[in-house]
Amino acid sequence: MKSLRELYVEELKDLYSAENQILKALPRMMRAASDRDLQRAFSQHEKQTQRQVKRLERIFKQLGESPRGKKCKGMEGLLEEGKELIQERPEPEVLDAGLIAAAQRVEHYEIAGYGTVRTYARQLGEEEHASLLQETLDEEGETDKKLTALAESSINIEAEQADDDGESMGGNGRSGSGGRGRAGARGRRKTASAAR
Ligand SMILES: [Fe+2]
Repeated sequence: MKSLRELYVEELKDLYSAENQILKALPRMMRAASDRDLQRAFSQHEKQTQRQVKRLERIFKQLGESPRGKKCKGMEGLLEEGKELIQERPEPEVLDAGLIAAAQRVEHYEIAGYGTVRTYARQLGEEEHASLLQETLDEEGETDKKLTALAESSINIEAEQADDDGESMGGNGRSGSGGRGRAGARGRRKTASAAR
């Protein structure tokens, strides 16, 4: 790499790979979520991400470059952590809080990446690119704020109370109640997904 322009193209490829990985991960996160508002937030972000991919493709077309040829390993790692969380099968309310944490890491990674390429575009005199990238950057920022609001208004609170729910459902008996509480939570989760 010999110039800022080449670095710009490399960073754009990285983001293109990141967005496409996110597109594959979002349906999984949506299925794992129990909270309706969180499911909706993931589904809205999936549609938004499709438009963000299109914006990047427009930029690559103008540059006469291919968007392919790079795998964003940072995003791969972040999404892998989200996958691991789901596989650990936490209480549904706790999983929702954890999914927000994973999604916000993804958003912050993207915010860093888009902020950088937007600044490079300006430096390189690519004003149209800069405004397209700024649009995406704004959307990522809004998604991040929306997730914070969901966490603070309800999901973290429900996660904190998840254990209490299990206790009350399990009735008495210290050793048995945890297990039954867990089963109860799973049952609720099944109902939630069946209702979709
Ligand atoms: Fe994105």
